[in-house]
Amino acid sequence: MGYAPSALALVPFISVENMMRVVHATGIERFLAELADYIEQDFRRWQLFDKTPRVASHSREGVIELMPTSDGEAYGFKYVNGHPKNTKEGRQTVTAFGVMAEVDTGYPVLITEMTILTALRTAAMSALAARYLAPEGSRTMAVIGNGAQSEFQALAFRSLVGIDRLRLYDIDRSASERCRRNLAGRGFDIVVCGSPEEAVEGADIVTTVTADKQYATILTDNMVGPGIHINAVGGDCPGKTELHRDILLRSSIFVEYPPQTRIEGEIQQLAADHPVTELWQVFTGQGPGRTGRDQITLFDSVGFAVEDFSALRYMRALIGKLPYYDQLDLLADPDDPRDLFGMLMRAEPQPA
Ligand SMILES: NC(=O)c1ccc[n+]([C@@H]2O[C@H](COP(=O)([O-])OP(=O)(O)OC[C@H]3O[C@@H](n4cnc5c(N)ncnc54)[C@H](O)[C@@H]3O)[C@@H](O)[C@H]2O)c1
Repeated sequence: MGYAPSALALVPFISVENMMRVVHATGIERFLAELADYIEQDFRRWQLFDKTPRVASHSREGVIELMPTSDGEAYGFKYVNGHPKNTKEGRQTVTAFGVMAEVDTGYPVLITEMTILTALRTAAMSALAARYLAPEGSRTMAVIGNGAQSEFQALAFRSLVGIDRLRLYDIDRSASERCRRNLAGRGFDIVVCGSPEEAVEGADIVTTVTADKQYATILTDNMVGPGIHINAVGGDCPGKTELHRDILLRSSIFVEYPPQTRIEGEIQQLAADHPVTELWQVFTGQGPGRTGRDQITLFDSVGFAVEDFSALRYMRALIGKLPYYDQLDLLADPDDPRDLFGMLMRAEPQPA
């Protein structure tokens, strides 16, 4: 048909294969640390961003969400799903892809897989928050829920916080064993525990990252001692939480974007005006982080669009240095911009 895409038609595309190449070429712990820097930079210029709770389409088995934001120069969005039953059918609970575009022309400048990138950015965000909130000198982290996100969480906390002892618990012991195997040789002392109570023993930080489409109680009040930092990742939808309400009432609660977290986070269990601190305030020094040794700090993580924007921004910078992307023929680009129809017709197969 004689069609050859022009330069304007092409958009860099990062496939799953290339995402894995980029991560390995960078080194996963360095990748997590640099990604956390990008997130921190963006949270420090919080006021610039368009912010809205993500647009969620709920169904009986899960949720499909769109997460848009812009800093006025670039625009980004992520498509992401959450379907806890998927793993039983050989599918992921969470899959994602994303797009970044330039605001000036509206043209996309990057399209990328974001399933792996979401696990990396969620972990980077958690560890970044913990850098401000966890007790000083934290070394031991309990990880409850040892599915797809868990190793990423562990590595980010090692890279950013210095965690080198892990206490793992999952209702499915084989998940904990897989997590232990995957992290072997990376300098962690790892204990697989028989109960969540055992997992939290002696932990400075407790990460909950389970998947269940209901109000679950992964942590009860008696399991949470003074001075601990809780990184609650798995409760991220209406009707899907992990912590007993009494824990929330004893904790200083830190969130990404309150209008979204009040719908989706652990704090959906509390009054709509329950006080929370926004992380951008902590990162800019405008709000307090941890202020006392006995204080229980809680990062009520749900995942916000600005973090995905930061991840897209970071990937753009990386593929400027690394050759790991394809050019996707994504944007129709007729010679005369108004002759879209002519372009289509000229591509009509001719009779032989
Ligand atoms: N906050 C965020 O930014 C963010 C980002 C990505 C994923 N998530 C959420 O994190 C959670 C985990 O995601 P994933 O991809 O690892 O899911 P996954 O399905 O791969 O793993 C979840 C694990 O939790 C375990 N589990 C379920 N109920 C449990 C319980 N009561 N006690 C202990 N373990 C239990 C399961 O056996 C499984 O191994 C999901 O709920 C997901 O929606 C949040």
